[in-house]
Amino acid sequence: MAGSEKRERLKEFYLEIRNCTKCELSKTRTNFVFGSGSADATIMFVGEAPGRNEDLQGKPFVGQAGRLLDELLLYIGLTRDKVFIANVLKCRPPGNRDPRLEEINSCKCYLFKQIEIIDPKIICTLGKHSTQLILNTQAGITSLRGRVFKIGKRLILPINHPAAALYTPSKMSVLREDFLRIERFIRHEEEYRGYMEEIEELHEQKPPGPGGMSMKDYEGVVLELGFESGFGSDTDAGEYEPGEAPGIADSGKDKGEQLELF
Ligand code: URA
Repeated sequence: MAGSEKRERLKEFYLEIRNCTKCELSKTRTNFVFGSGSADATIMFVGEAPGRNEDLQGKPFVGQAGRLLDELLLYIGLTRDKVFIANVLKCRPPGNRDPRLEEINSCKCYLFKQIEIIDPKIICTLGKHSTQLILNTQAGITSLRGRVFKIGKRLILPINHPAAALYTPSKMSVLREDFLRIERFIRHEEEYRGYMEEIEELHEQKPPGPGGMSMKDYEGVVLELGFESGFGSDTDAGEYEPGEAPGIADSGKDKGEQLELF
């Protein structure tokens, strides 16, 4: 699909879901945070859920963790208009508590649809919740970060949530290391076979459709994880309270309310 068509489809999708009332979070949100960036991005970053600043501005990662994410993107020569940034949940959990399983179950189809439209070659999952959802696992982020998985034609690169490095500065060097790995996979995406030994193929028993991962492929995935044990016990960004928003420059391009598409 051409970039312009992806953009149109994303915009339509945003208009379709922005007034979602599927879960209780719709009652306490200020804004629905759809995500922002390039509709034709090679790489998508997926965080956990909007925090206070994101809720107020309707844009993802505009607080302290967002500032760090911007820095890390710059570190590998990227800016927000070259990537797409979204979250597992589109609405803020009150007090920035962890997302609940029923909220993830209600919201996950929005993320999967975004993935289907944008069709990124690489998905970088930030922290426990997005990693466990995308990889369909209960394994903790500690054992998954730094590894490279392949689902269909897509590479999944789980890393720590930037907020975790704000709280534990020793994690910063790990984060930088992981971003350098991301850069390697973006730059050498054509020849990533050279790194094949690093790639762990998933879901071999269930080949994805022609578009790779899609909503259909993932239907019921969270249910399969098991409700009792939830999403594992590692903590990462759960306690994070975003700081004051530095804001992001308005692109001036194709803004439909809170939507920021490039
Ligand atoms: N943390 C997230 O996971 N997402 C945001 O949008 C902001 C902070």
